[in-house]
Amino acid sequence: MPGALQRPAVVSRVSDLIGRTPLLELATTETGSRLLLKLEMYNPTGTAKIRMARAMIDAAESAGELRAGGRIIESTSGNTGLGLSVIAAERGYAFTAVVDHHAAADKLRAMKALGADLVYVVDDGTEELATAAREELAERMADGQDNTVFTEQHNNPANGVGYFPVAHELAEALDGRLDILIGAVGTGGGLCGTGRELAKLITGFTVIGVEPKGSVAFGGPAHDYYQSGTGTPEGAEIGALVDFDLIGEGVKVGDVEAFATCRAVARTGLLIGGSAGGVVHEALRRLPSLPPGTTMVALINDGGEKYMDTVFNDDWMAEHALLSPEAEGEVEERLTKLRGNR
Ligand SMILES: Cc1ncc(COP(=O)(O)O)c(C=O)c1O
Repeated sequence: MPGALQRPAVVSRVSDLIGRTPLLELATTETGSRLLLKLEMYNPTGTAKIRMARAMIDAAESAGELRAGGRIIESTSGNTGLGLSVIAAERGYAFTAVVDHHAAADKLRAMKALGADLVYVVDDGTEELATAAREELAERMADGQDNTVFTEQHNNPANGVGYFPVAHELAEALDGRLDILIGAVGTGGGLCGTGRELAKLITGFTVIGVEPKGSVAFGGPAHDYYQSGTGTPEGAEIGALVDFDLIGEGVKVGDVEAFATCRAVARTGLLIGGSAGGVVHEALRRLPSLPPGTTMVALINDGGEKYMDTVFNDDWMAEHALLSPEAEGEVEERLTKLRGNR
């Protein structure tokens, strides 16, 4: 896919703005190793997930499952729903998002603004994550309905395919020089779709998957967590796209460390979301001990703007026992040291 980095000067659909996201060098060691952030919040809707939303709809149309006037149904923590809302609006489909109150309130408001119908699986106002119940309801709603598609992101191969362009963008931008790809693992589509395609373009790189502590794809114990949109909570099935052969190492990062990292990174001028905080925490921890000249790329699933009520709200952080000036100070110190070498 040569020329993957170029975009026409004028486009006519929001979805034409998907992709070609920038790389930001966040940190560098004295030995020339660097941490580059693939800033996926520069996609429309502020997240990577619109890449796979479009791919899932393309696949449903190609299979003849979705025709003019059809309905899309998906269980979503918000970001997938935002992408599907945009594609549905552009192509004239109805879209029903099955959601819970664990999702960031701004994501839910934005989906509604874009024309989606929201169905709450648990409508008692609790913040509990209800992934399994959401998926059951979405499946039931689509069952037997004509011209209605449950896109089922956890089991849909098109989810991974939607991220193939990320691999092309990275290979082209870095001239094939990439040693470590690190990213959050929820459905697995983002990290494994990118990694699988990248393996066709370059060799000798490692894939590191990051999930919240409490998530179960890389082992237990299971407990609640607040990193939004990522991981596999207790009771949910590990997504079919989580490719354990591709992921060289699966690691866990707690909410305290992930959110402390978001808050420390914000003071460099960049707002990143909670799952990206976990990824960057792990990347920064590893960077100093990597062989000289290593290039590590972290996939940044979304920006921090959607988390002003949570990660960047001191009261909410304190109420949930997540505020840690020590953890924030540690990340800030590491960042200050590593940013001095750029
Ligand atoms: C903020 C955020 N981080 C991480 C992920 C996980 O990405 P994936 O489902 O591609 O593994 C998602 C997916 O919804 C997300 O919205």
